[in-house]
Amino acid sequence: MFYSDDVIEEVRYLNDIVDVVSSYNIALKQRGGNFLGLCPFHNEKTPSFSVSSDKQMYKCFGCGEGGNVYSFVMKMDNVEFKEALTTLAGRINYNLPKLNGSLQSKMENLSKERYFEINRLAARFFYETLMSDEGIDARKYLESRKISNKSIAKYGLGYSGNKSALYTYLTDLGYEANDLLTLGLIVKSKSEDKYFDRFFNRLMFPIIDDRSNITGFGGRVTGAGEPKYLNSKETPVFDKSKNLYGINIARKTRSRELVLVEGYMDVIALFEGGFENVVASLGTSFNQSHARVLKKYCDSVVLAFDGDQAGVLAALKAMPIIEKNGIRVKVFSTDDAKDPDDYIKKFGADKLKEQFKNAKSSMAFKIECLLKKYDIDKPDESVMFTKDAVKILSDIDNLIEQDVYLRQIVSLTGISEPAIKSELAKAGKSLDAPPKKRLVKQPVTAPKLSKADAESCKRLLRLIAYEPKIREAVVRHLSPEEIHIEIYRDIFVEIIKPDFDNKQIYPAELSSRFETLEWQKEIADIFVLNDDEYLSATEKEINQLVKKIKEYHIKQYKVDEKDLKSLEIKANMQKSLSVLNIKISDG
Ligand code: GTP
Ligand code: MN
Repeated sequence: MFYSDDVIEEVRYLNDIVDVVSSYNIALKQRGGNFLGLCPFHNEKTPSFSVSSDKQMYKCFGCGEGGNVYSFVMKMDNVEFKEALTTLAGRINYNLPKLNGSLQSKMENLSKERYFEINRLAARFFYETLMSDEGIDARKYLESRKISNKSIAKYGLGYSGNKSALYTYLTDLGYEANDLLTLGLIVKSKSEDKYFDRFFNRLMFPIIDDRSNITGFGGRVTGAGEPKYLNSKETPVFDKSKNLYGINIARKTRSRELVLVEGYMDVIALFEGGFENVVASLGTSFNQSHARVLKKYCDSVVLAFDGDQAGVLAALKAMPIIEKNGIRVKVFSTDDAKDPDDYIKKFGADKLKEQFKNAKSSMAFKIECLLKKYDIDKPDESVMFTKDAVKILSDIDNLIEQDVYLRQIVSLTGISEPAIKSELAKAGKSLDAPPKKRLVKQPVTAPKLSKADAESCKRLLRLIAYEPKIREAVVRHLSPEEIHIEIYRDIFVEIIKPDFDNKQIYPAELSSRFETLEWQKEIADIFVLNDDEYLSATEKEINQLVKKIKEYHIKQYKVDEKDLKSLEIKANMQKSLSVLNIKISDG
């Protein structure tokens, strides 16, 4: 979405649906709390189009159309969400925050284009220098690291020769020194009024973004010298916190799994070994901007950081950031080698491929790290281990997965299951932070729910939307993955988002969190058609509703007879279902 949820909600709130519908020349007559009129979406003689002023939603009992003020305008004007938002904002003279398209941003884009062009010329110049006589030592260095000409061309590697070669080349072509300064390609000497290249006598790595623009450079010494790598400074087109080296190549593989490494050389060494889906965060610690780029191109990431302690720490830090964005994380620890580059040289590409396939889950990796930290044969350390492990467990928002690791800890430490469970309960927050995972889309062959099952799912959604206490209790026992129907699962995920914590949720607000008419219509179906006795749910009913959903999930869960873990997971699911006991707190 282009605008924040707050803006969307404010514009919705300020546009009364009864007014908006009336403004389309639809005559509405009041009937109790609702308004009734002829449906604009199908032909009818007797009114069945109902607009609820309380709920700020509409619903046609004839054709089934329904939604909030946004979907109404989208349907009536036949426009996308964004345009409906603009229309509704205009209606109330609401100033939307500026988006791209202003004169200023057009100017910025123009100068960016020029910067990219200069960087492109610089990269080509470095490449030609590498291939010339001047580049012979650098070529030898690359050879010594087993980097072929194919990789050199693919990644556009180059060599920066003498101290003013690039400056001379580009200014001769007519480019302004000022632009070169801005791009960090040259520096001005303090004493004299002279310019010098920032990069000289270095092996050059152009850093290319996912739109194939060269944003900056990294330069490595080919012999002794400090620093080992020199990178572009921050410029209008280079933001090191966003770089993912290799993304221009990795994205083209269309593999939804990417390998994340630390360094330039790891990317290229893995490319030599046949892996094209590799990107590097280049020594900067992995952050949310990186994750956002990753999310565009993959659903799962294999972390392959350096084997040293810094690498392990970096992996531990990166994992939650990646997972928070709904990307699955697996970890390959480069135990027997310095880094992936070293690994592939020692053990070969086939072995590495196998390692990637068997990479550990992030949980297993975390627990393994703890095992290295403590000597669990000593009673006091075993207790500390358990405490730390419980912290890790409490971050798992999927109860089934939580259970699997809990058992692992039990068998490792010999500490009893109830003891760990009670620690877990004390940590208390096991499921307080609701899962924020973007859910993996179900296969097209999504199973059909029976009507009764669908009704109980809808009823549960109403209950948790209206009653924060019920929501809180249900979220502790039901995770989104257990809801098999995509549309209900998406609605569930939205309802349990932290910004709704402790609040009653208004269906009209919920509705505009979804941009597609189909979802908005479903929300109208769930919430407008049913004015049921939602506030009078008993604990027993809630248990039954959740149980039904879980039963269905278990039925759909396919066990692979050869995969012991899947058998165990299914058994655990059945076990946890049999002891399901949701309690609604009244305090
Ligand atoms: P090799 O040592 O040639 O194998 O390179 P590498 O890519 O494996 O580098 P390393 O594992 O030492 O570091 C990982 C990444 O951190 C590098 O690719 C660089 O992006 C960055 N880095 C390493 N050293 C420096 C440095 O001295 N300065 C800066 N700015 N970045 C560095
Ligand atoms: Mn290395």
